[in-house]
Amino acid sequence: MSDRRLDRRLQTLYACIEALFQAGSEQELLQCICDTLVADGEFLLAWIGYGENDPGKAVRPVAQAGHGRDFLEGATFSWGGEERGQAPAGAAIRTGKACWVDDIRTDPSFSPWRTAALAHGYASCMAVPLIAGAVDLHGTLNLYSAERHAFEQSAIAHFAGLATCLTRAVVALRGHLADDLTSGVTALRASEERRRAQEALHQAQTELAHVTRVMTLGELAASIAHEINQPLAAIIADANACLHWLDAARPPLDVVRETLVAIANDSDRAAEVISRIRAFLSRSSVPHGPCDPAEVIRGVLPLVHPELRRHGIILEMSLAADLPTVMGDRIQLQQVLLNLLMNAAEAMREVLPERRRLVVRSTVEHRDDGPWAVVAVEDAGVGFGNNGDARLFDAFYTTKPGGLGMGLSISRSIIDAHAGRLWATTNPGHGATFHVALPGMR
Ligand SMILES: Nc1ncnc2c1ncn2[C@@H]1O[C@H](COP(=O)(O)OP(=O)(O)OP(=O)(O)O)[C@@H](O)[C@H]1O
Ligand SMILES: [Mg+2]
Repeated sequence: MSDRRLDRRLQTLYACIEALFQAGSEQELLQCICDTLVADGEFLLAWIGYGENDPGKAVRPVAQAGHGRDFLEGATFSWGGEERGQAPAGAAIRTGKACWVDDIRTDPSFSPWRTAALAHGYASCMAVPLIAGAVDLHGTLNLYSAERHAFEQSAIAHFAGLATCLTRAVVALRGHLADDLTSGVTALRASEERRRAQEALHQAQTELAHVTRVMTLGELAASIAHEINQPLAAIIADANACLHWLDAARPPLDVVRETLVAIANDSDRAAEVISRIRAFLSRSSVPHGPCDPAEVIRGVLPLVHPELRRHGIILEMSLAADLPTVMGDRIQLQQVLLNLLMNAAEAMREVLPERRRLVVRSTVEHRDDGPWAVVAVEDAGVGFGNNGDARLFDAFYTTKPGGLGMGLSISRSIIDAHAGRLWATTNPGHGATFHVALPGMR
C-alpha cells in the first residue's frame, strides 16, 4: 500500500476514533462513522446494517453515506443461508467473519445485485461483523469501492479492528442509555413516593386538626350549651308574654311587636352559635381562599365568650381597620385563634380575678414583600418563663393535668401551611403574648 493511502487511512481512523468518544447516541455514532469513511473519496458507499429476526432474516440498513442510496433502497440483503444471504453484508453476520467480493462483475455470490451495483460504479465490496469478544451486535459495516480487488488482507484487518471498536462504543452507549433510564425511573419513583408521603402527611394533619377541634368543642360544650340556653329561655318567656297579651280585650300591639323583634334577635343569636359550631366541626379541608382576619376573629368569639365569662375574664379587642386579606382556610385559622384564646384563659385560671384580662389585637405590618396581618393574643396569666418557651410548640408538651399538648403544635403546622409565622413572647408585666403573622394576598 502506498504511503499516501496509509496516511489517509490513519487520518480516517483518527476521525472515527474521535466519533466513538463524542457521539451522544447510537444512531449519531453509526452515521458519523459512515460519513467519515466516505469523506476522503477512497470508498463510494459506506453503510451499516443490523440483522433482523423476521422470517426473511433481512439486513436492515441503519446508517449510510456516499454515492448510491437508491442502491440500498432497491437491494434486499439477508443473513440467512439462501441466495440473498450470500453477499458479504449477510454472510458476515451469519459467519461472524469478514467477507468480501473482489470483483462484482464475476463473483456468483453477488449475482442478485450485480446489475444495480455496476450501474452505481461499484467494483468490489467488503463487510466486517460488528463483534467485540463475546459481544455480537448482529450487524455489519459495509464498504464499496470503484476499484476491483480494493480490499486486501491488511485493509480487511484494519476495518475489522474499527468494527470492534465501534461495537464497544455502541455497547457503552446502550449501557448509558440503560443507566440513564434506570436512574430516571428511580428518580421518578422516589418523587412519586415523596408525593404520596406528603399527601398522607397532609391528610393525617387534617384529620388530627379535625379531631382536636372536636375535642376543644367538647371542652367548651357546657359553656356553649349555657350560651344557647339563655336566648332559648328568653324566647320562651317572651313568647308566653305575647300569648298572654293577645288574650286581652285590647292587646297592646306595640309591646307585642317589640317582644317579637326581641324573640327574632334571640333566635338569630342561638342560630349563629349553632352554625359556627357546625362549621367548626366540619371535617373537610377546604381549598385556601381569601379570608378577612377580622371575620376570622369574630367567628371564634361566640364559641369562646361563654367560657371567658364563666371564669370572669374580660376580653378587650383592638382591631386595625386596614387589615390585609389573607389566603387561607377560615376554619383552620379560627382553630388556631381558639387554641390561643383557650390557652390564655387556662393560664389565667389561677391568677387573681382582677388580673383576668385578655386582649386580642390586630395590626398591619409593612414588610419588603407587602403588608402582613398580625394578630396577637395577650393574657395576664402565669406566663411560661423565659426557659420554657423552646418546648411550647413541641407535640405532647403540656403542663396541664388534662392537657394533650397538641394545641400549639397543630396551630404552628397550620400557620406554616399558610406561609405565616406563629411565635410567643413574655409580657413585661404578667403573662404571655402569642403572635400570628400572615402574609397579605398579593
Ligand atoms: N398563654 C399561655 N401562657 C402560659 N403558658 C402557656 C400558654 N399557652 C401555652 N402555654 C404552655 O404551653 C403548653 C402547651 O400548650 P398546648 O396548647 O400545645 O397544649 P395544652 O394546652 O397543654 O393542651 P391541649 O392539647 O389541650 O391544647 C401548655 O401546657 C402550657 O404549659
Ligand atoms: Mg392548648
